[in-house]
Amino acid sequence: MKVAIIGQGYVGLTISAFASQVHEVIGFDNSEKVVAHLNAGESHIEGVSSEVLKSAIKNGMYRATSIGSDISNVEIVVIAVPTPLDLNREPDLSYIESACSTIALNIKKPILVINESTSFPGTIRNLIKPLIEKLSPTKIEHLYAISPERVDPGRVDWDQENTPRLYAGLTPEASKLTHLFYSTFCDNLVEVSSPEVAEAAKLFENTFRQVNIALVNEFAQISNAIGISVYETLEAANTKPYGFMKFNPSAGVGGHCIPVDPSYLAYAASKKGVPATFIERANEVNLEMPKYIVSRVKADNGGSLKGKKVQVVGVAYKPNVADVRETPAELVINELMLEGAIVDWHDPLVKEWHNQQSSSLGGSEIAIVVTLHDVSDRAEVISSAPYVFDTTGKLTGVKGL
Ligand SMILES: NC(=O)c1ccc[n+]([C@@H]2O[C@H](COP(=O)([O-])OP(=O)(O)OC[C@H]3O[C@@H](n4cnc5c(N)ncnc54)[C@H](O)[C@@H]3O)[C@@H](O)[C@H]2O)c1
Repeated sequence: MKVAIIGQGYVGLTISAFASQVHEVIGFDNSEKVVAHLNAGESHIEGVSSEVLKSAIKNGMYRATSIGSDISNVEIVVIAVPTPLDLNREPDLSYIESACSTIALNIKKPILVINESTSFPGTIRNLIKPLIEKLSPTKIEHLYAISPERVDPGRVDWDQENTPRLYAGLTPEASKLTHLFYSTFCDNLVEVSSPEVAEAAKLFENTFRQVNIALVNEFAQISNAIGISVYETLEAANTKPYGFMKFNPSAGVGGHCIPVDPSYLAYAASKKGVPATFIERANEVNLEMPKYIVSRVKADNGGSLKGKKVQVVGVAYKPNVADVRETPAELVINELMLEGAIVDWHDPLVKEWHNQQSSSLGGSEIAIVVTLHDVSDRAEVISSAPYVFDTTGKLTGVKGL
């Protein structure tokens, strides 16, 4: 099949890498910089190797473009663009709307449009389909389906091939074609009865994580107040073979999914007049963690951080990726600056952030470890400052949650 994938970021490029083993893929991205790198065979995403990309380009199975008319001959378009929150923490659908415009203005025959971007129930039926129809110069009846993406960038045990994939078409024909497409590179496809179920399932999966992370973060604070180790207590609870799932405390949640997706569900709930109290409280607890951590560090250091040199170690939102979107490290740094500390950061994977280069490890009075990558030498991190506060639970012999 000839396939266009709109958005060549974490999701779109990952899908492109798998799909281009079997299909002719055009990776459409409106960033010319991204397109130039991709056409030079350089991947910017963990989990997609430049070798795989180069080989797909060489075999004529992949090319990237920013030119809308380049997608006019495809049979399937997959939408994989950002779905962030706006300043009011409500869904920002402008990227999806722009992708719809690209489809409407360039596709002149009936195709299958699949949305992989995370959004609230009803997005494919009530937003994408009507918008494409409204913007198309000629009336075309496309097929529409949803297949929410579950990729976990950097993860190697679960990938596009073995992670079960949910899908549903707006019509049986759309479902059938969606199945045909994904079955060429995914082993386990799960059809649900409507696109709304698939869209809501994706949101609930991430809400489940958000709420449980908040719960364990609150429990870390309770454990510390009681004077017990949160880690030992969690290990103890985890010996129960059923009815318990262990989550680890941290400086908060980051990335494009966990801090964002639950608010899409809360938005859908609010439109129906239903409260989403767990989501709202979980959000608050996770966002308050940096303040709590800084208050602990302050208490351990004579009650003031004014003028003290503090290094934040690991600013990526999770281990082994360079992704800093929504990273809790940013909030930790803000809290430290509010306390008058002199702050710098070190991350072996994030070379540049907010136009600043990563500092070398060490040289501060205090280190706060927010994210610990596998490449980081633990002994070096432990000895990087006279006082080290670990939020990851991976370092021994230092202060921590
Ligand atoms: N990153 C993840 O781990 C993950 C996992 C599951 C689902 N998702 C969802 O997938 C969607 C995409 O996320 P991502 O992480 O791949 O985003 P990303 O920021 O990594 O990539 C998005 C890409 O889309 C491009 N883009 C933006 N608007 C465009 C447009 N109108 N036309 C063409 N290209 C455009 C950007 O230049 C960028 O390269 C989001 O809805 C996200 O919630 C992400």
